[in-house]
Amino acid sequence: MLLKGYSSNVNKTGVFYGKYSFGNIYQDLTNKKGIEDHIVNVIRDDFKKAGIYDRAHEYDMMDVGIGRQAIGMLLLGAKSVTHFDISRQNIRRFKKLLRQRYKDRSITNICADLCITPPPEENFDFVYLNGIVHHFSNTAQGLRNCAKAVRKNRKIWVYFYRSGTFKWLVCSMIRSLLSARQINRYFLSSALIYSSGDINNVVTSRIMDDFFVPYIHLYTPFDYINFMELLGFRLVKGINMNPLVQIDHNHLHHSTTLVFKRIKKLDIDKVDTKNLLIPSSHIDQLSLSLYKDDVRPRQSIRLFRRLQTMAKYNKNHSTILLTTFALHKIAAPQYYGGVELPPDYGKLNAVLKTAIGLVKNKR
Ligand SMILES: C[S@@+](CC[C@H](N)C(=O)[O-])C[C@H]1O[C@@H](n2cnc3c(N)ncnc32)[C@H](O)[C@@H]1O
Repeated sequence: MLLKGYSSNVNKTGVFYGKYSFGNIYQDLTNKKGIEDHIVNVIRDDFKKAGIYDRAHEYDMMDVGIGRQAIGMLLLGAKSVTHFDISRQNIRRFKKLLRQRYKDRSITNICADLCITPPPEENFDFVYLNGIVHHFSNTAQGLRNCAKAVRKNRKIWVYFYRSGTFKWLVCSMIRSLLSARQINRYFLSSALIYSSGDINNVVTSRIMDDFFVPYIHLYTPFDYINFMELLGFRLVKGINMNPLVQIDHNHLHHSTTLVFKRIKKLDIDKVDTKNLLIPSSHIDQLSLSLYKDDVRPRQSIRLFRRLQTMAKYNKNHSTILLTTFALHKIAAPQYYGGVELPPDYGKLNAVLKTAIGLVKNKR
């Protein structure tokens, strides 16, 4: 869903990523160590998982994001790489980096909103969407456009944030308390707390991404699989997919990767994908009806609703700021030196109760 406080007629996702998240740590992600020691290994592993490692040198590839993965692909010998991003600032920075450090390599850069401008049809042997589709303004539209770009018998990699996981329950609470108008205050405050005021730090980047990215659309793996099958693709690999259920806060990782192979050449524009992956089908993690079999999320959501109502009439900005930072440590302990699972409902309820007390006693 679109975070409160964003208007819908500007390139908000591009501006957001250029400045507040990934853009703020661009130098770290794209320095020699970030690319040659880290991302090349990640891409090598992902190629192996996708079953394309041995054929990379024959493949025309498509990447979306800040560009570091595109360089990883080239360094691993891809035949060609075309890189897309909605952020003008990221594209500018990436072109500069290519001129400075990878002059002899050829990567095509295209600044485009993939929900509006489709990449060239049947142009790629491997389309890599790693952390992209849930941020599309319309996941169905953007993914359909990218699916058309895959050649027959070739593959698309789709890593997405998963509905039915603890992290997104708690992050949905955080996002429901916030409005985009607060973005600069949170940007600087998180930098103060986590990096002595330096905005170029990874914790700030993650906080901004989870709190303020304009769109986080959440669906289950079933929705993605059904959608891609209708478009003529077959699931060939699932990573962090099992147990394949709608909800399981105890065991499910907050993201899943599915790799699909295009097995039929359909006229994708004409395929009726029903309501799958459209904005109105986004699964609200704060809906009590999702949790019929588990009392723990229902209790936490009821507490959260009390806090939300009280905060609406009693605007205590510092309490909300501190509460959201405390909630993020519970949503994603792995970003703060802990482990993601099992979920800690005890801590979650303790934070919510303390926050309610603080809002009540506002002086
Ligand atoms: C989580 S970030 C980066 C993910 C990627 N794994 C990386 O390391 O570059 C998501 C990226 O997707 C881009 N993006 C989001 N929506 C887009 C859209 N509609 N069209 C093109 N790029 C988009 C953002 O600008 C951002 O660079």
